[in-house]
Amino acid sequence: MQIEQFDPRTDDIRLRACHAMTVAGQPEDDPGVPPLPLADFRVFWTLGESGSLVQTWLACDDAGEPVGAYALALPQIENRVNAFAEIIVAPSRRRRGAGRRLLAHMAGQAARSGRQLLMSSTRVGAAGTAFARATGGREGLLDVRRRQDLTEELRGRIPALRAAAQPHASGYGLRSWDGRAPADLVDGLCAVYTALGDAPHEEAFEPATFDAARLYEEEERLVARGTRWYSVAAVGQARGEVAAVTQVNVHPSQPEWGWQAITAVARQHRGHRLGLLVKVAMLELLAEREPDLRHIVTWNAEQNERMVAVNEQLGYQVTGYFQFWEHEVAALAPSPSAAC
Ligand SMILES: CC(C)(COP(=O)(O)OP(=O)(O)OC[C@H]1O[C@@H](n2cnc3c(N)ncnc32)[C@H](O)[C@@H]1OP(=O)(O)O)[C@@H](O)C(=O)NCCC(=O)NCCS
Repeated sequence: MQIEQFDPRTDDIRLRACHAMTVAGQPEDDPGVPPLPLADFRVFWTLGESGSLVQTWLACDDAGEPVGAYALALPQIENRVNAFAEIIVAPSRRRRGAGRRLLAHMAGQAARSGRQLLMSSTRVGAAGTAFARATGGREGLLDVRRRQDLTEELRGRIPALRAAAQPHASGYGLRSWDGRAPADLVDGLCAVYTALGDAPHEEAFEPATFDAARLYEEEERLVARGTRWYSVAAVGQARGEVAAVTQVNVHPSQPEWGWQAITAVARQHRGHRLGLLVKVAMLELLAEREPDLRHIVTWNAEQNERMVAVNEQLGYQVTGYFQFWEHEVAALAPSPSAAC
């Protein structure tokens, strides 16, 4: 097996091979959601999460057929001793040691970049979880995935849900928009995005701090993915500060599926049911702008009781559990062939 680095910006054939292996594994790896569209995959494998550099490596057999691949994201702002790992092995090539070899190779690359921990997430019950455990991963937080079905019953409950929130939220108004953030809200939004760091996370994980440049970079990433995205913010009526925000993304190739991005309430504005208020307003906005939408998917740390309580009020049901893992880079001795 040869493991070679490639540039996903210019090497579309190899990038598509990686995407194809991921899509082929989906019925086994994560049957509950549609596969990542190629445009999204390209952005994650090219740019990673905000503030990262990504290395992509493809493993082929002697006949040149793809066996597996990995994307190693190396954060450059926060998490400079951590790396984020994504490995995929083609379903027909599994359980023959390719995963272990890719992991060892990746650890070698992570070590060269001064990283100490490889962080990853796997679906509980899928091969990835058994693999992470077998390769010495340390279990971290559990993320719970929930899905909201946009039924008539839910639509009928919207007035009552709004009524449950509104009396607690006097002094706040709502602003909603699609796509890029309105210029007058950018600074306030950055503060609320940064407040997302208060959500439960691993001790070794450093949450992102946002400034305008980072927010614009995130927007560029959404544009590159071809995503349509919608936001609703709660704004203090007295001083105009952004108190809460929620965002949902919809990919045009999967108009039935919405993907919850951030929902956050700034610390000094918590306790006013703003989370529920902005999410209810989002449902109304999406009913108007995305008439084909049938489901919204969200992830929350198991311990994030406040957010989970809001989601349960909104009819979200659990569809999967995702285990966060940390591997010590130093413990994953690279194989001799990893020095390419
Ligand atoms: C996880 C994955 C990369 C493993 O690839 P692989 O080539 O099958 O892995 P290996 O053959 O090196 O397996 C190493 C060990 O992991 C464990 N393991 C892997 N798959 C397993 C499964 N389906 N059931 C139980 N144990 C499993 C075993 O202990 C295995 O050793 P063994 O075969 O000697 O018993 C592959 O299943 C995959 O691509 N899954 C989808 C993506 C993913 O979850 N990636 C990991 C997180 S980034």
